[in-house]
Amino acid sequence: MGEFLSDWKRTALCAEFTTEDVGKEVTLMGWADTRRDLGALIFIDLRDRSGIMQVVFDESLFKGDFSKVERIRSEFVLAVKGKIVERSEDTVNAKLPTGYIEVKVEELKVLSKAETPPFEIADGAKVREELRLKYRYLDLRRAEMQKNLILRNKIANAARSFLQDNGFLDIETPMLQKSTPEGARDYLVPSRIHAGSFYALPQSPQLFKQILMVSGFDRYFQITKCFRDEDLRADRQPEFTQIDMELSFVEADDVMELNERLMQYIFKEVMNIDIQLPLKRLTYKEAMERFGSDKPDTRFGLELQNVSDIVANTEFKVFSSVVKNGGSVRAINAKGCANIFARREIDALVEFVKIYGAKGMAWISIKEDGLNSPITKFMTDEEVDAIMKRLDGQVGDILFFVGDKNSVVFDSLGALRLKLAERLELIKKDTWDLLWVTEFPLFEYAEEEKRFVAKHHPFTSPMDEDIDKVKSDPENARAKAYDIVLNGNEIGGGSIRIHSTELQEKMLEALGFSKEEAWERFGFLMEAFKYGTPPHGGLAYGLDRLAMLMADMPSIRDVIAFPKVQNASDLMTQAPDMVDNKQLRELHIKVVE
Ligand code: AMO
Ligand code: AMP
Repeated sequence: MGEFLSDWKRTALCAEFTTEDVGKEVTLMGWADTRRDLGALIFIDLRDRSGIMQVVFDESLFKGDFSKVERIRSEFVLAVKGKIVERSEDTVNAKLPTGYIEVKVEELKVLSKAETPPFEIADGAKVREELRLKYRYLDLRRAEMQKNLILRNKIANAARSFLQDNGFLDIETPMLQKSTPEGARDYLVPSRIHAGSFYALPQSPQLFKQILMVSGFDRYFQITKCFRDEDLRADRQPEFTQIDMELSFVEADDVMELNERLMQYIFKEVMNIDIQLPLKRLTYKEAMERFGSDKPDTRFGLELQNVSDIVANTEFKVFSSVVKNGGSVRAINAKGCANIFARREIDALVEFVKIYGAKGMAWISIKEDGLNSPITKFMTDEEVDAIMKRLDGQVGDILFFVGDKNSVVFDSLGALRLKLAERLELIKKDTWDLLWVTEFPLFEYAEEEKRFVAKHHPFTSPMDEDIDKVKSDPENARAKAYDIVLNGNEIGGGSIRIHSTELQEKMLEALGFSKEEAWERFGFLMEAFKYGTPPHGGLAYGLDRLAMLMADMPSIRDVIAFPKVQNASDLMTQAPDMVDNKQLRELHIKVVE
């Protein structure tokens, strides 16, 4: 059993002491990190979330049984009393903020012993993520994870303080909601009282925040959990956190202008980085055509070029038929790659784009001694010349082409662009590429369901000039929707909302809901709109994604204290888990094998 604190009080966190404290009697508490045993002299790095302080046990100064010191092992929790002294010159560690001082210990309490941890508590050690997550409490002791969660806290705090200063009210919305089909799959919660009925956990506070605008709260925000039962990825978790907001009497520009200032504030407060405003804006169309993505990374070039007009009648049938069928042929000039990429690497890239639906990828490698390509033999000199000109093809370049329907061309070349940038190390560290993508399509066509679904969500307003297209030309209707993108990641998205019952009905109809279904599911919103509704709009950030990028981590799991793994389970608690039959009976649920 460990010793008790009794009347011992901690003076400060381990790394909060400085050379100004030399000579002071202090009490420190923390975990035993590394330990060096020189016999009558034992050095221990005492660790807590602030960092590390070297504490020195000198047998001749120590009050008590020195064998207690000798028995200290990694991760024991200690309390020490002693004096801060300057380190002798030869023991100074200039790498540590506390490297010029140490504590000469007189008294020790071992508050808790520790078994040998399954992995070393140190950054940079190669530990399987499954092991890290099973013992998350140990993983979270690492300086890197502590830094990440501290950074995340700072971001949330800065957001809160900016929004409070700008007239936003923090209002909570329910976690147990009505299931409203659209977007991702819901997490359902069975009702005990209402047999056969279910609540859904919120995918976002969307409808409630709009209703708060109907209620006159004018500006709302909340930092809140959202739940979506979708496939996990590095930037996706089944539960994640949004910085969510809604504003009344605004148009898209107002929401974007305020949010630019919010981003500027967060970067300044948290990282002392100056973000220049206004942020760049790209329409969705421009983003797709230039970068093949609605979350373009514009830190590097490698832009797409449309060559459909040049190859519309070419003998290379793959291209000409694609163009005839309404698709396009687009290309990227991989500058300077002809001398870097062996044929094997080009072939690997062709396989790579197939993941994104491309049926193939043609290329032209421009060498000193002429063109090397599987397709130029099917093309006229004029066609090849025109392509060279459009893509600024120079000796040493490789041009890559994909022809298909637009969505496939954009997806595959968009992905190729990122792949090339990574391979060629074109992305500068510590650049913060923040931009807006605007004028999203209102709908997108869902192939499996054979119907239009909302690109953002069904409450997003069409652009004023495209209202008629909701019925007549849904494919080309644009929305008052905007995403904010950081270094090629969608960190937030929002829109101006529909604020009339009629237009909302029309929109739901276009999405394939009958009038009855629409009222059954969304009646409470449309009913609310009948009683005086201000024009309103908002936006939500993925806090996890923002924190991941600011912390320069590869996954949002690194900025979430207790994340889930790929199959949506929690390796530490073993959730989800079976429950006993009594619980199921109460919920009127029978599990069918
Ligand atoms: P949206 O669905 O775009 O908008 O979500 C907003 C932001 O939340 C983040 N995000 C996620 N982060 C981690 N894991 C996930 N599974 C996940 N899904 C989304 C993204 C995204 O940009 N109610 C609207 C906002 C609005 O219109 O005001 C909404 O939820 O960074
Ligand atoms: P094939 O005639 O199928 O052997 O294709 C000749 C070349 O065109 C190969 O390099 C293929 O990878 C490429 N290719 C095939 N389909 C496409 C496509 N849809 N877009 C671009 N290139 C393609």
